[in-house]
Formats: sequence, structure tokens, C-alpha cells
Amino acid sequence: EKGGFPHFMLKEIHEQSETIADCMRGRLVVEDNKIVLGGISAVTDRLVNARRLIIAACGTSWHAGLVGEYLIESLAKMSVEVEYASEFRYRDPLITEEDVMLVISQSGETADTLAAVREARSKGALVLGICNVVGSTIARETDAGIYTHAGPEIGVASTKAFTAQVTVLAMMAILLGQRRAKLDEKESASIIKAMSEIPAKVAEIMTKFDEVDAIARLFAYAPNFLYLGRSYNFPVALEGALKLKEISYIHAEGYPAAEMKHGPIALIDELMPVVVLAAADHTNDKMISNIEEVRARKGRVIAITTDNNQDVQRLSEFSITVPETHDLLTPLLTVIPLQILSYQIAVYRKCNVDQPRNLAKSVTVE
Ligand code: M6R
Repeated sequence: EKGGFPHFMLKEIHEQSETIADCMRGRLVVEDNKIVLGGISAVTDRLVNARRLIIAACGTSWHAGLVGEYLIESLAKMSVEVEYASEFRYRDPLITEEDVMLVISQSGETADTLAAVREARSKGALVLGICNVVGSTIARETDAGIYTHAGPEIGVASTKAFTAQVTVLAMMAILLGQRRAKLDEKESASIIKAMSEIPAKVAEIMTKFDEVDAIARLFAYAPNFLYLGRSYNFPVALEGALKLKEISYIHAEGYPAAEMKHGPIALIDELMPVVVLAAADHTNDKMISNIEEVRARKGRVIAITTDNNQDVQRLSEFSITVPETHDLLTPLLTVIPLQILSYQIAVYRKCNVDQPRNLAKSVTVE
């Protein structure tokens, strides 16, 4: 049932070009420059007119939510807050009928996320869900929702669910941008087209497996890893670090790159691998400075960058490139090498990849 792969996680990493396409099928209508999200059509007006959107989730789903915040704020100019589902509850949250809550959960059974759903509903907010498991508790208890259609995810480390969640959030952001008239036709057409090209680009990244593997082999016994990203690639840094600690038990931290100077820079020496997410976008000059700062302290820079980003490739000890796309969609591509890196490192360390110690696929206790 692993489709010839040694682990479910590897199978699920490989499936992503297909699962992203499945997630967009019938929803991303390129020829009409249109997004169709049937699951929320009855409540779209209320969503469009909401005062703010609160996204709540845990773990990897929370990282997808952070990417969603950038997407929705940028394309729809709508105010978004992202909360850990657990923390949302402890704060006696300020949420009213004018707000919309969006919860994200692969399993649809995460106890803290479910509790956030119940809390928001009790305060009169519209509650929407992005779930993978059809008919799950969260899918049933939300007012409306969008399924990710990624298929069963068995590996405890979430991979294809994450890229599908981001895909749904991107489609929501475009729809909201169009409906709130914050996104002109040309811009929405360009991003819709870019989305339609993502599955082929993901498949292209899979051909870099051996390149990523060579880096994994070199750093499999590093005690620590640092991941840095800015803007929409900051959540990808968090996700890369979570993936690594979860399955390989290496201590890893993800940071917004600018925060490096405020503490983590003290950790950098010749033993420290630093994974830098550096697409050729508005953050490029700043990322280049970060790379220089790491190098000046003899840190080992592993850049995940775009094909056209020669400067970053030249400055970094190692680099893995991904194809160029619309800036806002780069997380869908930059996360893939990070998934492969953590997977291969866990394999070299002989860890139980699909069922890491102490972890369950769905966390049904609070
Ligand atoms: O099923 P959910 O998306 O609600 O799960 C949330 C987290 O428990 C989950 O993403 C966890 O962090 C993963 N093991 C990450 O790979």
C-alpha cells in the first residue's frame, strides 16, 4: 500500500504534484479567470464582508495558516489573524458575529482545533474549515468548508496535506480579492495561471532528489539546524524546522531571517547548518545580507532558492533551486526540498520515519 516506496512519507512527498492538481480541479478555472469554491458558496457573502478573518490551527496546519495570512492580506486586503488553536481558547477571545473563523486541520479531529471551533460558534462567528478527512468531526461541526482532497495521509509528518492547505488558501485569497475588488483582472489572471503551473513545477523539483540527498548525507549528524525565511517564506522556515525535529529528532529552529541578529546568530559556528529560503523576490537583498552574515561566522549555508537567483547560488555553500513562480506561491515549491531533506536525514539516522516517537497522527487530547 506504500506504492513501492519504503515509507508512506516518501510516497506522500511524491504524490504532491498530483494532490495539488486534485485540490484545484474544478475550482481553478483558468479560461474564465475564476475560482469556484462550492463548499463555501452559501456563505461567501458573509466571508467577503467580514470585519476580520481569524485562522486557527495547530502544527503544520498552523504554518499553512501563516502562509494564508500573507496571501489573503496581500490579494484581498482583508485583516487576518493567525492563532494557535489552543491559545485562542485560553484568552477569552474577542470574537463576534462580524468575524469569520477559519480552522485548518488535516485530520479534522485535533482536540484544540475542535475546541476553537466550538468557542467561536458559541460567540456567533461564522466558522469555516479546511479539512482533509471527509466527514471528520471538524468538517461536520463547522458551518461550511473546503476539502483539500489530498487523499489519506498516513505518515505522521504532514507533507501533502500542507501543500493542499496552502493551495486552498491561495484559491480563497484570489476569490476574496476578486469579490472585494482588491485584485484587478490582470493580476488575478496572472496568479491563476501561475497556480495552474504549480503541479508541473513540483514534479520538476522531485528530479532534484539526489541533490538534496547529498546534503542530507553530509548533515545527518548535525546536532542543530537553523531555518531562515522572510515574508511568505518565513512560515516555510518554521515548517522545515518542524519536519526535521519531528522525524529525525535533531533540534531545529525556524526564524524570520531578520530576527537572526536578535539572538540566534550567537549559535552560528562551523558546525551549524543554516537553511536559507531565498526566492528572487522583494526580500532578496536582505536575504543576501543574512547569507553573508552566516558565512562570516563560518556557518554552513544551504540555500533553497529560485532558478534565476544567481547571486544567492554564488554566495551559498550549497543550493537547491526551484522553478520561478508568482512570488506569493513560492511556499508551495520551497517546502518540497525541505520535506525531502528531513526525510533523508531521518532515514540516515535510522529513525522510524512514519511513526516518530511520542507522536500520534492526530492529537485528540488537549
Ligand atoms: O490534523 P491536524 O492538521 O489538525 O494536525 C495538526 C498537527 O498535529 C499536525 O500538523 C502536526 O504538527 C504534524 N505531525 C506535523 O507534521
